[in-house]
Amino acid sequence: MALLIKNGEIVTADSRYKADIWCEGESITRIGSGLSTPPAAEAIDATGKLVFPGFIDPHVHIYLPFMGTFAKDTYQTASRAALVGGTTTLIEMICPSRTDDPLESYELWKSKAAGQSGCDYAFHMGVTRFDEKTPETLQRVVDDGMASFKVFLAYKGAFGIDDGELYRTLKLARKLGVIVTAHCENAEAVWQLQQQLLSDGKTGPEWHEPSRPPAVEAEGVQHLATFAELTGAHVYVVHTSCEPALAAARRARERGVQIWVETVLPYLVLDRTYAERPDFEGAKYVMSPPLRELSHQKALWNAIQSGQIDTVATDHAPFDFHKQKEMGRGDFTKIPNGIPSVENRVPLLYTHGVAAGRIDLHRFVDLASTKAARLFGLFPRKGTIQPGADADLVVFDPNHAGMISARTQQMNVDYSAFEGWPITGRAETVTVRGQVQVRNGNFVGRQDHGQMLRRDPSHGS
Ligand code: URP
Ligand code: ZN
Ligand code: ZN
Repeated sequence: MALLIKNGEIVTADSRYKADIWCEGESITRIGSGLSTPPAAEAIDATGKLVFPGFIDPHVHIYLPFMGTFAKDTYQTASRAALVGGTTTLIEMICPSRTDDPLESYELWKSKAAGQSGCDYAFHMGVTRFDEKTPETLQRVVDDGMASFKVFLAYKGAFGIDDGELYRTLKLARKLGVIVTAHCENAEAVWQLQQQLLSDGKTGPEWHEPSRPPAVEAEGVQHLATFAELTGAHVYVVHTSCEPALAAARRARERGVQIWVETVLPYLVLDRTYAERPDFEGAKYVMSPPLRELSHQKALWNAIQSGQIDTVATDHAPFDFHKQKEMGRGDFTKIPNGIPSVENRVPLLYTHGVAAGRIDLHRFVDLASTKAARLFGLFPRKGTIQPGADADLVVFDPNHAGMISARTQQMNVDYSAFEGWPITGRAETVTVRGQVQVRNGNFVGRQDHGQMLRRDPSHGS
């Protein structure tokens, strides 16, 4: 059914104006003033509301076999959670273990999403080993529309690759015109520090941060940047948590390395004291890189304001506190890493960014939607509001006062890292390609509406 969103204030990364949006089929077909509603169309009154392009989370984990267990969400639960939070596109990391067949993994991850997602989605293809078959395998994945890779410099023995593999992956990515996203921590340094701490009897979740201090992350970013410089690859640093890592990326960009920086919502609002909470509650806040000292949070907001940070994602990786996080009682290295937040990113970024006066609405849209669309080959289909774009729209009530709680969340996990936190603003109505998926903040749509988004390589040699 055709859709008319009337009387709203449209906000994109670079414009703000009052107009009506007319959507036919799956696209926006007209934007103008005083558009009338034909009898067969649905009209949504957005008076007093902001209308944003659908938000994009470029870093989530949904199907994730990791640290002896599996992340808790399915595409059904994660996409519902994303949608009620205003996110209409997810980009998930495919994470095969080093011994898995990469093409089988690619098909497995796709099968977990097919027919199950309420929102659109794409994948970054994890390269967790590089052998003689890898170039052909990755060419097939790129031909299937997945124009971005993921590498881990951390997680020795699980997803982590060595320097030879990193060099060959980046060279191939340069040739294919594919951007490489990277988890940057020096795996060997982490392993040494973990063993030292455990042998000193330091076993609780509060020791997770000292096992991966800022220097470990900065070395990872510096390392990636060096290899990107040598190969000419375009690289994207995921989940940047601290000032030394930002500085390493800044130096690389200044000398011409094609490098972009993501931070994730937890680092902007939480700090290491959460992981120090007593009675093992700190385990709820264990993720990698770890939550840092408050000074790093300030550095991240400064980098957001100066434009050094390109995107705010989540790194959504949900593990229950009971039974899963508890696997690491007595040994912090066994606590499944991750903080669930796909549902909370947009409201918390609005609350602590826009409503707190740290960023304006345009920067908010760019960080949470437009820049990811541009970097990952989705723009202008996604990430903006213009005729021809997908009708992914968020009618946002900036005056709504709400509260986060595990009791009311859609994410399939038994806690919230933000329990009881107030939020300002809410995604009231959310559409995906013209289909209303959320009304009054509740999922009301089709669970199988989401499509896999194919993308073209953008910067081949
Ligand atoms: O703690 C995290 N970040 N868990 C998910 C896996 C990853 O490193 O992105
Ligand atoms: Zn990571
Ligand atoms: Zn991740």
